[in-house]
Amino acid sequence: MESIVLFGPPGAGKGTQAQRITEKTGLPQVSTGDMLRAAVAAGTQTGLEAKEYMDSGKLVPDGVIIKLIVDRLMEADAKNGVMFDGFPRTIPQAEALSKITSVSHVISIEVPDAKIVERICGRFTCKACGFVYHEVFNPPRSVGKCDHCDISEFNKRADDNEETVMSRLAAYHEQTSPLAEWYMSKGILHAIDGDRDIDSITQDILKSLN
Ligand code: AP5
Repeated sequence: MESIVLFGPPGAGKGTQAQRITEKTGLPQVSTGDMLRAAVAAGTQTGLEAKEYMDSGKLVPDGVIIKLIVDRLMEADAKNGVMFDGFPRTIPQAEALSKITSVSHVISIEVPDAKIVERICGRFTCKACGFVYHEVFNPPRSVGKCDHCDISEFNKRADDNEETVMSRLAAYHEQTSPLAEWYMSKGILHAIDGDRDIDSITQDILKSLN
């Protein structure tokens, strides 16, 4: 099987959809944002290099990201393809990816900028399993308890504040959105309206993968 890319602005719902689609396809979710946050928490060299960029909402340099991905794709569970969440984000990243694995579908989740701040500022995740919630749009079924692991501790991300979101959106428009045209020219881009309820978006993504 080939790999799939979930593409879109910060807060578009890439992580939310990846967690659902991975259950259906069996492809492991590979989120560069999650990998970088783990590196920052562990205090590794990669984490030290990445932290300043992440805190200010800028993209981490391509060399750091490409090395992370090359290492990740060598792991056993990646041999039949993966579901990329938040990678690639620049043309050089996409070019590097095309040399190491083939991508069958790029799912572009489209959400207007005006909706992004409220989505990101209301986000929280389960401390144990990382499942993504929203205070208003997507709360856990039982108040204060993760739907997936019965844990009742949650995290808020350090970069989920209004100021950093504006900088992440600017980075998206300047450096990442040109990739949509790059993938469209290859005939593998599928645009999905991400400004709807979560289940409808999941259904449309699954249809476009068939
Ligand atoms: P990363 O962690 O990838 O953040 P991001 O791209 O900014 O995306 P998010 O995780 O914020 O949003 P999402 O699209 O996953 O939305 P979610 O599903 O959570 O990257 C963080 C940083 O790391 C970057 O700024 C950069 O510094 C660095 N980095 C990472 N990858 C990099 C790379 N490849 N190159 C260079 N640097 C890199 O949903 C958001 C909220 O909305 C949630 O609360 C959710 O419940 C809610 N929600 C989801 N869907 C809906 C819906 N349909 N309706 C209403 N609410 C919804």
